[in-house]
Amino acid sequence: MTPRVAILGASGQVGKALQAGFSQRNPIQPVLALGRDYDVTDSSSWRASLDAFEPDVIINAAAFTAVDACEREPDRAFAVNRDAVAALAQWCANSDKALIHISTDYVFGDSGSAPITEDAPVSPLNIYGASKEAGESILRTILPRHMIARTSWVYGPDAGNFFATIMRLAETRDQIKVVADEISCPTFVSDLAEALIRLSDRVGPDSTDFGTIHCAGEQGLSRFDFAQAIMAARAELGLKTAEIAPTTQALFGAPARRPSDSRLDSSFLERAYGIKLPGLSARLPHLVSVLARQN
Ligand SMILES: NC(=O)c1ccc[n+]([C@@H]2O[C@H](COP(=O)([O-])OP(=O)(O)OC[C@H]3O[C@@H](n4cnc5c(N)ncnc54)[C@H](OP(=O)(O)O)[C@@H]3O)[C@@H](O)[C@H]2O)c1
Repeated sequence: MTPRVAILGASGQVGKALQAGFSQRNPIQPVLALGRDYDVTDSSSWRASLDAFEPDVIINAAAFTAVDACEREPDRAFAVNRDAVAALAQWCANSDKALIHISTDYVFGDSGSAPITEDAPVSPLNIYGASKEAGESILRTILPRHMIARTSWVYGPDAGNFFATIMRLAETRDQIKVVADEISCPTFVSDLAEALIRLSDRVGPDSTDFGTIHCAGEQGLSRFDFAQAIMAARAELGLKTAEIAPTTQALFGAPARRPSDSRLDSSFLERAYGIKLPGLSARLPHLVSVLARQN
């Protein structure tokens, strides 16, 4: 049976890709998309809609994702990334529904070795990571029927992600400083959405497929190498390029510290579900040309 799906955070980059992915796959699948008008921190804003729609599964793509802003606004970070998750989990527990919640490689710090598997100990280095880790923990205690899909460095055509920022800066700058001591796995937003859609088919009443799953692109690289790859793709298309100058997190001086190597091991996703998310080199040339045409 096709599940009825409710998406929270539907106006974010993953939320939009989920809406597009569901409607492309099956235009008649019942999907309720609750965007920014539905404040996840205020259950009175979404409860009636969920009660009326009666979803089989909720996908929570709402989060306070501005990593540096989270350092300045920890209360907001914990309200959105932990307390709202608890309220959603409680709604699901009361109604016997499943929840797919998206989390992050930033629940990990520098204490382990990458690629990081699902059972590795968490050790967040910043408020964003700590608030997302707290959201994971509380979800596990409230709702057995959950999936926590951890992803990393989500990129796509929307403004605000690293890829779109470098594309924008390349138009006007001759040199862009990019940190070389941060490594992770870039994940194309539409690939992530497709993986989440396939996972949402697997959380029916008889399923035992619950727990934490890493869902990241298969290729790990530094932010510096990511930016260099964008410039190479721009050069191929005859677009203006900028010199990418390596720097360090310490010199760059962002308010939030990031892990130096948080590559997620997503092999369980492939073994258990047959899903493999392509790496950056498989997606970049096409995406650069699409975004360049839009501007
Ligand atoms: N982007 C990444 O690189 C990345 C990496 C790892 C994991 N993730 C996870 O992936 C998920 C989706 O992130 P994304 O990349 O799609 O980020 P995004 O574009 O920032 O989307 C998050 C959405 O949540 C909304 N939101 C924030 N506070 C809210 C509230 N109180 N009530 C309702 N909506 C609220 C945001 O709206 P406003 O922007 O208007 O506040 C935004 O539309 C998140 O769980 C994030 O932690 C993302």
